[in-house]
Amino acid sequence: MATQTPTPREISRPLSRWVIGQERAVREMSIALAKHLAGLSTGNILMIGSSGSGKTTLMRAVEKYLASQEELARRSTVVRLHANLLAEHAVGGRAGEVVILRLLEKAREQLGADTPLKTLLRRAASGIAFVDEVDKIRARVGEQANVAGIRAQEALLTLIENESVPIDLPQWAGGGRARVDSRRILFVCAGAFEGLYDSVYDRVTIGSDRGALQPMTVVQGSEVRQELKFDLRDWLRNEDLFDYGMTPQFLSRFDAVVLLESLGEDELVRIFLEAPDSSYREAKAYFDSHGVHLALSPAAVRRIAAEAARQPRLGARALKEVFRRVICDYEYDPASITTGSDGALLIDEPEVVAVLGAGS
Ligand SMILES: Nc1ncnc2c1ncn2[C@@H]1O[C@H](COP(=O)(O)OP(=O)(O)O)[C@@H](O)[C@H]1O
Ligand SMILES: [Mg+2]
Repeated sequence: MATQTPTPREISRPLSRWVIGQERAVREMSIALAKHLAGLSTGNILMIGSSGSGKTTLMRAVEKYLASQEELARRSTVVRLHANLLAEHAVGGRAGEVVILRLLEKAREQLGADTPLKTLLRRAASGIAFVDEVDKIRARVGEQANVAGIRAQEALLTLIENESVPIDLPQWAGGGRARVDSRRILFVCAGAFEGLYDSVYDRVTIGSDRGALQPMTVVQGSEVRQELKFDLRDWLRNEDLFDYGMTPQFLSRFDAVVLLESLGEDELVRIFLEAPDSSYREAKAYFDSHGVHLALSPAAVRRIAAEAARQPRLGARALKEVFRRVICDYEYDPASITTGSDGALLIDEPEVVAVLGAGS
């Protein structure tokens, strides 16, 4: 009997343990995944979000989720690859093939080397392909045409929704050729599209759509101000992505364009405290191994998050860099740290300020 397919809600719960915030992206991903796991057709997804906002984390969360349950692991094969790899292979005209071959290899790892090729091909044809850093295959960089990017986009778009993708089989499969129907492969592409935010902002303030973004009146106490409130979500059009260097044909392969939120101080606090791979957790484990219990006061954490939020281009990556500066001297010689009688090392706001400065 077929086992039940998880619902989007059931899928999103474990995903949001790894991915803090980004509810919309988690939702879209969960819906696509639920449909895909049920064997139904689902549209491909393009995720756009600034660096360090959680795009790769979300992809990895899906991989971990699928691997964590035997029944799901048996049903799905997922690969994650860097778009630059496609560009490399685009020169030989084989970029699309690379994706299928990766899926095929992965299916073989999962099912075992003596699985019939036919089964493996079927698995590959219903897999999930994450293509990360897809903004690196833009068709133009500045005024210059980017041939590798153009070719990689072409390869991807001919791969997506293609009834019959020809591939050269690897040695272990006996060589020769095969054809794969890729229409059931779920593609999720992601990229930071750096500069897109600024160019759309410019378009609606000083560019071709000058005046489209109107200032809003903000009343704060006795003060009345005019403020421009800009949310990329309200203004992004396909044309902006064409201008960025993604071809219309390429974009037409995606049913959903998902914009990730930029992370504010509150989310950064949560990521710092809760993300499974946060540098705080890592430091705690390190001190634990030396018999020291590390704790940061809420005010200290807030100060670290505030400092990180001052570098929005790094997203949550800034947390690591900021925390490094704070914790470095303590980590150098944990044995000599004067801890409380309970073996605890408490870092409070003054200690953080001493390293980072008082901030603004
Ligand atoms: N929404 C998030 N939830 C949890 N951790 C996050 C989130 N965004 C970023 N991070 C953390 O920041 C780092 C970079 O995130 P990543 O997902 O690689 O960013 P990108 O959007 O550039 O792919 C990772 O270590 C990750 O743990
Ligand atoms: Mg990434």
